[in-house]
Amino acid sequence: MVLASITCSAPVNIAVIKYWGKRDEKLILPLNSSLSGTLHQDDLKTTTTIVASEDYTEDAIWLNGKKEDINATRYQNVLKAIRSRATKLQDKKHCVHIVSINNFPTAAGLASSASGYCCLVYTLAQIYGVDGDISGIARIGSGSACRSMYGGFVKWEMGEKEDGSDSIAVQVQPESHWPEMNIIVLVVNDKKKETSSTDGMQKSAATSPMMKERCAVTVPTRMRDIEEAIKNKDFQTFGDITMKDSDDFHEVCATTTPAIYYLNDTSRYIMNLIHRYNKLSGSVKCAYTFDAGPNACIYLPEENVVEVLSLFIKHFPDQDLSTYYRGPKENVEKIQSYKPNEKLQSLFTPETTFASSLKYILHTKVGPGPQILSESESLIDNNTGLPK
Ligand code: DP6
Repeated sequence: MVLASITCSAPVNIAVIKYWGKRDEKLILPLNSSLSGTLHQDDLKTTTTIVASEDYTEDAIWLNGKKEDINATRYQNVLKAIRSRATKLQDKKHCVHIVSINNFPTAAGLASSASGYCCLVYTLAQIYGVDGDISGIARIGSGSACRSMYGGFVKWEMGEKEDGSDSIAVQVQPESHWPEMNIIVLVVNDKKKETSSTDGMQKSAATSPMMKERCAVTVPTRMRDIEEAIKNKDFQTFGDITMKDSDDFHEVCATTTPAIYYLNDTSRYIMNLIHRYNKLSGSVKCAYTFDAGPNACIYLPEENVVEVLSLFIKHFPDQDLSTYYRGPKENVEKIQSYKPNEKLQSLFTPETTFASSLKYILHTKVGPGPQILSESESLIDNNTGLPK
């Protein structure tokens, strides 16, 4: 008999102060605090259904249609942590079936572990009636997942306790605070297999001479300043810190032994273009940040959206804007009819254009945290217990 069935969704987040390095590998405790924006789930999200039933003989999980090993350490750690705090189902013999899908292709190279583990933990917490903070449980699945527990701008406090009980996510500002904030993701064409974040940060923590200063001085100062900038909706400071922290993170990777390089020529071209554009404009109009891969995430206020999109489409053209640009339809026409002012003329007449360097351009906003969905959105067939 089915005892409970719940479907939830959870967002992706993009850090502006990067988490890189652990002080405890098992509990996933970081060497520094970090801060991110939560992306809107209309464009990017994980959806997870969990069914608890007396009929199932073992726990099982399917990701994007493929059965995965539920005995993997991180899944087991999360399941144990949730079940130890359960207020429901403890007295009933049962197992759970978990089905999870992303509404964005894994091939997009966008980190799915944050939304994935956040959604898993959030949905489990509903099934088992877990009260209080659950970001600490998402953290033991994947560090950055704890920040997806809330909408808006979210910090992950590194904490100091050995048991990790104070290493949790805290909402800095809700999504309603800065509704003008947009995010453009330039999905870069790249076939290279990258070093995983988990491996990369372990090597950096052990070998990069930059880590000490970064954790002791640079990040604490930036955390304080960027929180203040978000509070004041001060995009100049926000953008400046965001780009500096991304640059430093990639410098830490480059000074790791052996060196780790996540950026490629396209990424570097984008960085350079944004610096030239901001300089010509006389202010920070948009700010890039890059994670453990070549894709550019660009934070920018609403007023600069059409200009920035036009700039990128000029340098990275494509025949069919309707599939290349994934954002509000009304922007397509605005981009096509956009004329740069005198000052920016030179930037809009590129010497070379790079067709097919980008897979596509995704345009979204800062959005809310995890959501409980209706039974009709369930991904599990209750008759078979399998993915629909
Ligand atoms: C570069 O959270 O994927 O995206 O905790 O080992 O699962 P694990 O690592 P993960 O690392 C994310 C690193 C980053 C920066 C960030 O999101 O803060």
